[in-house]
Amino acid sequence: MYMRKIIIFVTLLVSTQIATAQEPRFGVPATQADIDKRFWSVFPDGEFLPEGEGNVAEGRELFEYNCNICHNFPDENDPNKNAIGKLFGGHETRGTANVDRTIGSYWPYPTTVFNYIRRAMPLIAPMSLTNSEYYSLTAYLLHENGIIAEDDVVNRDTLPKVEMPNRDGFVNAYPEVPEKYRTKP
Ligand code: HEC
Repeated sequence: MYMRKIIIFVTLLVSTQIATAQEPRFGVPATQADIDKRFWSVFPDGEFLPEGEGNVAEGRELFEYNCNICHNFPDENDPNKNAIGKLFGGHETRGTANVDRTIGSYWPYPTTVFNYIRRAMPLIAPMSLTNSEYYSLTAYLLHENGIIAEDDVVNRDTLPKVEMPNRDGFVNAYPEVPEKYRTKP
């Protein structure tokens, strides 16, 4: 028994020494191009929105083929699909205790719609569409929520200017963030 303990101790000692003797094996330093390729975030004010342009009609068609299997069309009311993520309606519940949270009733920034669906949707194939197609889907979602007109085009200039119904519905929990922790001036 005593001998076994010694063997275990020696084995541990040797293996730690082997581990510390190895050089750290870092990879190739990331270039700015590598970092840019992985940087997908669009900021609420529209910074980093990509090139491209979309419209409501094209968005409606894309929605039918890529999204409707899980999400309702505005005039459908399938409770199962609503449980997944209700995308339309709910305006009349704003300001009540039970807000029906949708893009139209809840989301404060139009740019987040683009950012979210490009990053996460369709659920089974995120980022699989082009930037223009994601602009079209954003246009369609905003239009069916009564926020933009049928013939409005959506691109990096027009999207940040769209005013969301609930844009003033959020308060900053940390209004006094020290300068050094702010991501932007
Ligand atoms: C395979 C099913 C599926 C498909 C297809 C799909 N979604 Fe979703 N979607 C989901 C699920 C599940 C959630 C909820 C995710 C969560 O809460 O984390 C969601 C959430 C969302 C939300 C956020 C809703 C909210 O207010 O919280 C949006 C917007 C959205 N999807 C848009 C789309 C669009 C646009 C497409 C088509 C390009 C699409 N989805 C395709 C399953 C799907």
